[in-house]
Amino acid sequence: MAARNGAIKLVAGNSNPRLAEAIAAYLTTPLTRAVVRRFADMEIFVEILDNVRGTDVFVVQSTSFPANDHLMELLIIIDALRRASARRITAVVPYFGYARQDRKPGPRTPISAKLVANLITHAGADRVMTVDLHAGQIQGFFDIPTDNLYASPVMVRDIRERFDLASVMVVSPDVGGVVRARGLAKRINAPLAIIDKRRERAGESDVMNVIGDVAGRTCVLVDDIVDSGGTLVNAADALIEQGATDVYAYISHGVLSGGAVARITASRLKELVITDSIQSSEAVRVARNVRVLSIASLIAEAIGRTASEESVSSLFD
Ligand code: R5P
Repeated sequence: MAARNGAIKLVAGNSNPRLAEAIAAYLTTPLTRAVVRRFADMEIFVEILDNVRGTDVFVVQSTSFPANDHLMELLIIIDALRRASARRITAVVPYFGYARQDRKPGPRTPISAKLVANLITHAGADRVMTVDLHAGQIQGFFDIPTDNLYASPVMVRDIRERFDLASVMVVSPDVGGVVRARGLAKRINAPLAIIDKRRERAGESDVMNVIGDVAGRTCVLVDDIVDSGGTLVNAADALIEQGATDVYAYISHGVLSGGAVARITASRLKELVITDSIQSSEAVRVARNVRVLSIASLIAEAIGRTASEESVSSLFD
């Protein structure tokens, strides 16, 4: 983990200080002292208090809610580090916001995920590290090395400890998530079911077709994002109507906007398991059926390997 100027440096933005501290603890590297604060008009001001000249710096910042503020913080921290002569700057963005805007859904619409990639690059990042990108091809929106880590090893460990695997059925809550769900199903040697959500006629509610026999099974829904919670709640209802014994969900990023936690708590979902890629709100912390798995050690390990030029992909073999 040696850089020319001693050890690696870790800098935390304000989006997820708990995760940044856990990563720092794993790497036994203190967070670099920095001030990230606001002027009266809410402009962001950053000052790096320690010398970073010639160092290998990792900036930990999810672009989660409020996405624009956290993104701007990340850009300004990178700018400050570049002007302070850091040798290499890696933007560690455990949750990459704007990822769902990865294509033009209609004429005269933006591809905001590409714009965000451009902003991070032009601010001065040399590398990017992120977790479970909404779409793998977003990696290609960056022309700098980008590592897309997977939370699945952490989830698989938890699933193995918790369930009788013989009764588990992994379920993709929509057709778009099949590749991700199939990957996890393969790791635990479980069968896969898919929910095909269709709106037969405009104005009518969605029909949820469950493809696969889930009767008597413990269903584990797998997805990258839970936002409003609507997808999961509807999927849980459809699975239970088809005879599933219990429904759990393992989701990488707990965006959980608005009343999502209340919706999940009131649902037929036995438990929602998310990672700490986004810092938990108080609602999440007290929710009866939401649990958080930490990916701090996974990210820390990837940072350590990046710094010492070792393989990162072998973390997922
Ligand atoms: C969509 O493509 C994503 O993978 C998630 O399924 C979606 O963002 C979940 O959103 P919500 O919780 O609002 O239904």
